Amino acid sequence: MQRLTNKRIILGITGGIAAYKSAELVRLYKTAGADVIVVMTPAAIEFITPLTMQALSGKPVHTTLLDPEAEAGMGHIELARWADIIVIAPASADFLARLNNGLANDLLTTLCLASEAPLYLVPAMNQAMWHNHQTQKNVQQLTIHTTFWGPDSGEQACGDVGPGRMLEPINIAQRTAELFSNNLLSGKTVHITAGPTREAIDPVRYISNHSSGKMGYAIAEAAREAGASVKLISGPVNLACPERIHRVMVDSADDMLAAVLEDIDQCDIFIGCAAVADFKPATVAENKMKKNASDTMSLALIKNPDIIATVANLTTKPFTVGFAAETQNVVEYAKHKLANKNLDLIAANDVSIGDIGFNSNENALTLISSNKQLSLSKNSKSKLARQLIEHIAQLIP
Ligand code: C5P
Repeated sequence: MQRLTNKRIILGITGGIAAYKSAELVRLYKTAGADVIVVMTPAAIEFITPLTMQALSGKPVHTTLLDPEAEAGMGHIELARWADIIVIAPASADFLARLNNGLANDLLTTLCLASEAPLYLVPAMNQAMWHNHQTQKNVQQLTIHTTFWGPDSGEQACGDVGPGRMLEPINIAQRTAELFSNNLLSGKTVHITAGPTREAIDPVRYISNHSSGKMGYAIAEAAREAGASVKLISGPVNLACPERIHRVMVDSADDMLAAVLEDIDQCDIFIGCAAVADFKPATVAENKMKKNASDTMSLALIKNPDIIATVANLTTKPFTVGFAAETQNVVEYAKHKLANKNLDLIAANDVSIGDIGFNSNENALTLISSNKQLSLSKNSKSKLARQLIEHIAQLIP
């Protein structure tokens, strides 16, 4: 099965005997690398305990809307925003009826109303209930805005035979994984720089910055999900190499430039996400520099090569995407960089806002090209990375 790394799934469980299968589904989601939050209706907890789901998902299970403690933690609106997708398995006849009528009389229906995430319904019920005209009317109307997976047909827990069985967990997990793979960049080669660079002062000291590399790594994964073959040229970071990505580790800006230029002729899209040090020491001391009697010390610095500008000014240039981390006049400075460096697209972010950008798991970006501007509001870096890739796919020739 494909990976679901960093995908945020809300698994809604409603009241039905098939709820026992949802435990296996959580396990499969977790094995595939997804982040899962389980939300159960009051009827669901009659069939399987929240404790089981908590143990399997590794996260608190949400069961009630009007729980001050839960709302103080991750409230229902935050939960609704957190999800990449919502899967309801099993979805009972009662739940489908309430959902179709826009009711918000428990946490799960409220979440479905409040979330913009796509909703997948995996029905499970007795075959007569499934055939009932009321249920069929609800299914037809819900199909306009949501997707049904199943039901399967066969022997049911109640002894009946017919449609109404919940799909097997492995089938649900596979369908979920398929949602996240698209072919937006299939056949394209994407090269991405990420992380900081280290500029040696002497054998033990260097100049660097706080870049964690998380944004660049998230973009690499999003590009791979979009079907591209990806090379990640990474400065020193504490991140594992994502699966099915060719990673080249480098230290200095000079090393990064060499690794970038090595096979740039094969690159269709170049994304410069690295926080490349602007300057490096003019000379690197051969031995560790000694303290001297003076209270001050000066270091002569010289400019590093501008990697992205070098790429963007090649005769046959890839579609080139840069980043602009700014603390003021963010859009204005980004527009200058777009023009000065000959870029096709620039992603600007305001690093003066404490909880986003450098070292954080979240970010907010403004995407600027010659005739388009698009604001992507605060979100996880993996979600923003996917939005960036979708935008690039629209812009490339
Ligand atoms: O000029 P500034 O550093 O703000 O530009 C940021 C953009 O340029 C980023 O895309 C960064 O990866 C790239 N860059 C580069 N080489 C440099 C400096 C920045 O590729 N020496």
